[in-house]
Amino acid sequence: MELVRATEAAAIRAVPWIGRGDKMGADKAAVDAMRKFLGTVDFDGVVVIGEGEKDQAPMLFNGERVGTGKGPSCDIAVDPIDGTSLTAAGRQNALSMIAVSERGTMLDASSVFYMEKLVAGPEGVGVVDIRKPIGENIRALAKAKNKPVEEMQVAVLDRPRHAQLIDEIRAAGAGTRLLLDGDVAGGINAARYETRIDMCVGTGGSPEGVATACAIKALGGLIQGRLAPQDDEERQRGIDAGLKMDHVYEADELVRSENTFFVATGVTDGGLVEGVRRKGPIIRTESVVLRSRSGTVRRVIADHLASKWL
Ligand code: FBP
Repeated sequence: MELVRATEAAAIRAVPWIGRGDKMGADKAAVDAMRKFLGTVDFDGVVVIGEGEKDQAPMLFNGERVGTGKGPSCDIAVDPIDGTSLTAAGRQNALSMIAVSERGTMLDASSVFYMEKLVAGPEGVGVVDIRKPIGENIRALAKAKNKPVEEMQVAVLDRPRHAQLIDEIRAAGAGTRLLLDGDVAGGINAARYETRIDMCVGTGGSPEGVATACAIKALGGLIQGRLAPQDDEERQRGIDAGLKMDHVYEADELVRSENTFFVATGVTDGGLVEGVRRKGPIIRTESVVLRSRSGTVRRVIADHLASKWL
C-alpha cells in the first residue's frame, strides 16, 4: 500500500505538464517524484524494468536500488508515466504505475523492446491462445463468456503494424477499441471484472508486458507474451541476454511469483482510473492496488492538501 504514495506523487507532479507538448518534461517530473517517494518505502528493491532507452531517463534505470534497504527484497518495475505522449497532448488514459514481486522473479526482457501480447480475463484461461488465429480466439472467448461475437470488444494499439490484425478482428465480427497509447491499462481493462473490453492483443513494449503480468496475476486472468525483435541484431541481443525467441511466455514465466503487487494512479482520466483533480484546497487522486496473494483489487481515492505540493 505504501507504494501508492509513489505513483500518486508521480501523477500529481505530471499534472502541470498535461497538454504542454513536452513529453520529456512530463516524464522527468514524474520520475523525480516517484524516485523521491520510493526512497521512503521500507523495502530493498532492484529496478528490473525502469525507464528504458526509449525515454533516455536519467533515473530509475534498470539495476538501480530503490527503497530504504530495510524489509523485503523485491524486483520492481516502474513506469512513472505510461502514456507520456498522451500526457503531453492532453489526452486520456495516461497513468503512473509500479509493479513489485519477490527478488529475482521478474523477466528482464529489456534487451528486446517489443512483445506481442494477449490478455483476457479469467474466462480466457485455457480458452484463448496467442498461437491461434485472432478470429478463433474471439469466437472461443465469446462462447466462454456466453455473449454474441458481435458484442465482443478487442483493445489494440492503433499502429500501422496492426492493420491486418485490426481487419481480422473486424472480419470475425467483433469491434475494436483502438488505443492511442497505454497497453498496460488496456490489458488490465481486458482482464478485470465489469469492463467493456474482452481482450487486449497486439504488439507493445516488453517491459509493459511484464508489468501487466503482475496485475493480471491478481485478477486471475490470462496473459501470454512472445518477444518481437525488430531485426537480427535485436534478436541476437535478446538471445545473448538469455531470452527465448519464438517462445510463448505464460504469466508464470513473465513473473515467477505468486506474490505480486501492482499499483497505478491516473494522470489523465481513463477507463481504469480517473486523472488527478484539483478541488479547491485539495488535490484528489484515484489509484488501483492489486495484490495477487489475496486476489484483491482496491481503489484508493486520496485527498492531498494542495498547499503541501506547491
Ligand atoms: P510510454 O509512455 O512509456 O512511452 O509508453 C506508451 C506505450 O503506448 C506503451 O503503453 C506501449 O507498450 C508502447 O508505448 C508501445 O510502443 P510504440 O508507441 O512504439 O508502439
